[in-house]
Amino acid sequence: MSEQGSNLSGPDLTQGIELSQLADGSMQLGHAHGEAVLLARRGNEVFAIGATCTHYGGPLAEGLLVGDSVRCPWHHACFSLRNGEPLRAPALNPVACWRVDQRDGKVVVGERLPGATSTSAPPASGMPRSVVIIGGGAAGNAAAETLRREHYRGLVMMLSSDGSVPYDRPNLSKNYLAGNAPEEWIPLRSSDFYREHDIDLKLGVEVTAIDARNRQVQLADGSRHGYDALLLATGAEPVRLAIPGADLAHVRYLRTLADCRALIAKVQASRQAVVIGAGFIGLEVAASLRVRNVDVHIVAPEKIPMEKVMGAEVGSFLRRLHEQHGVTFHLGASVTAIDERSVTLDTGESIDADCVVVGVGVRPLTALAQQAGLAIDRGVSVDDHLQTSVAGIYAAGDIARWPDALSGQRIRVEHWVVAERQGQTAARNMLGRGERFDAVPFFWTEQYDVAIAYVGHAEGWDRVEIDGEIDARDCTVTYSRDGRKQAVATIHRDLASLRAEVELERVATAR
Ligand SMILES: Cc1cc2nc3c(=O)[nH]c(=O)nc-3n(C[C@H](O)[C@H](O)[C@H](O)COP(=O)(O)OP(=O)(O)OC[C@H]3O[C@@H](n4cnc5c(N)ncnc54)[C@H](O)[C@@H]3O)c2cc1C
Ligand code: FES
Repeated sequence: MSEQGSNLSGPDLTQGIELSQLADGSMQLGHAHGEAVLLARRGNEVFAIGATCTHYGGPLAEGLLVGDSVRCPWHHACFSLRNGEPLRAPALNPVACWRVDQRDGKVVVGERLPGATSTSAPPASGMPRSVVIIGGGAAGNAAAETLRREHYRGLVMMLSSDGSVPYDRPNLSKNYLAGNAPEEWIPLRSSDFYREHDIDLKLGVEVTAIDARNRQVQLADGSRHGYDALLLATGAEPVRLAIPGADLAHVRYLRTLADCRALIAKVQASRQAVVIGAGFIGLEVAASLRVRNVDVHIVAPEKIPMEKVMGAEVGSFLRRLHEQHGVTFHLGASVTAIDERSVTLDTGESIDADCVVVGVGVRPLTALAQQAGLAIDRGVSVDDHLQTSVAGIYAAGDIARWPDALSGQRIRVEHWVVAERQGQTAARNMLGRGERFDAVPFFWTEQYDVAIAYVGHAEGWDRVEIDGEIDARDCTVTYSRDGRKQAVATIHRDLASLRAEVELERVATAR
């Protein structure tokens, strides 16, 4: 998405605006030299940066100023007002920066400034000579990029069992599956990017063992690679069904781009699909298949979709939303068998299906960590710097269980943004930055035209407060326990979500 040419709105900032029009702590959308520009004031300082988020094009003017940064309303990326740098995932690229002059009570935007030169190179002494990253997903890619962004000059090798360059996994159940996102949107970077940044990306390779004593990893082809610092970012794999017919060709799982391509090929020739599981993946897949006009039945054992994660009220809303789009639910039921034409439920019911998509959860890929002797606790145990029980080995993303500053619990989540931010923190800690991972978890989901943002983490709560109307798709839902706010979900209230994130961060920092 871009806001160029005729889409430009607000004043021409090269002509200047009165400083008095821009209150302290406020933002103004305008344009300069044919580009959308965000003007932001902090005390006597005024900044001008690109107004369009480099993740999916979110409108930064509708976001939130926090200190000398702005957060994007859509998926909470954060950019520095001083140099446009992406301070927080999911944005990976900076926004542009313009010179700002103040004269005679006016603020005038001048020429575009050269890109930031960010921090200086870390001192070579005490640095690892080589970093090996196992995993080319959200966490692995973010770590590799961060090492280079921080001017690390040693060897960076990223080993991925996936055959594709790191890609936008969340899109696989959303626009890409629905047929609304072209293939070129899916890779996070081109192969050239890794070459240009001297990141040795090896695709389609399986790491089979870690020799922690000799600091080496072993690949399935028998080759070995030494490392000084290691990041484990192997993610998770879908839980497989163990019922008759589960291995038939029309039974599909969705984790990788290859899975998604195969699923798309299948649904293009399908009339009716059964989705097993009413979690986020199942529900997003159902919504995307409806866009393709495939009839969808969802089978799940719970009575209300997503009740455990978002409560009965939001769960019931999601059910109604899907029913309004023609989805049929079979809740409180399990699939006991699958054949070429149908699935059989434990209720005795049979549903026709020429495609079956299984989304019954994932399992963290901890086998390598286990084999290497790292401490395991329903995931790989890490400290608040994301280091595992073995010095020099870090873990990030879906596999990592870390001490969450907000809840005071050790938690493991399966969120894209958390995985990226952990990859970034782990990379900086390999360079001796001593950074605590204290980000408040964030995830989002999109189903049809409804977007839900969720900040915090609530594994249980004793109070749910709803401000606004869920059915009007305009609400803030707060989950608390023992009088403490744990998480906040919002539907189409992006600013409220950002404010809740900042509030929860303050609570976490104070603990
Ligand atoms: C379809 C789908 C939609 C999603 N939508 C959302 C969403 O809307 N919002 C959200 O917050 N989250 C979403 N998620 C979750 C999010 O994608 C994950 O939390 C995130 O990808 C985790 O990142 P990761 O780096 O830990 O693992 P991954 O991204 O899974 O990457 C793991 C990498 O490790 C590699 N690997 C594994 N084992 C080995 C080995 N032995 N040797 C070499 N390489 C290995 C894999 O090939 C892969 O490259 C979605 C997930 C899926 C599948
Ligand atoms: S569009 Fe800005 S974070 Fe996604």
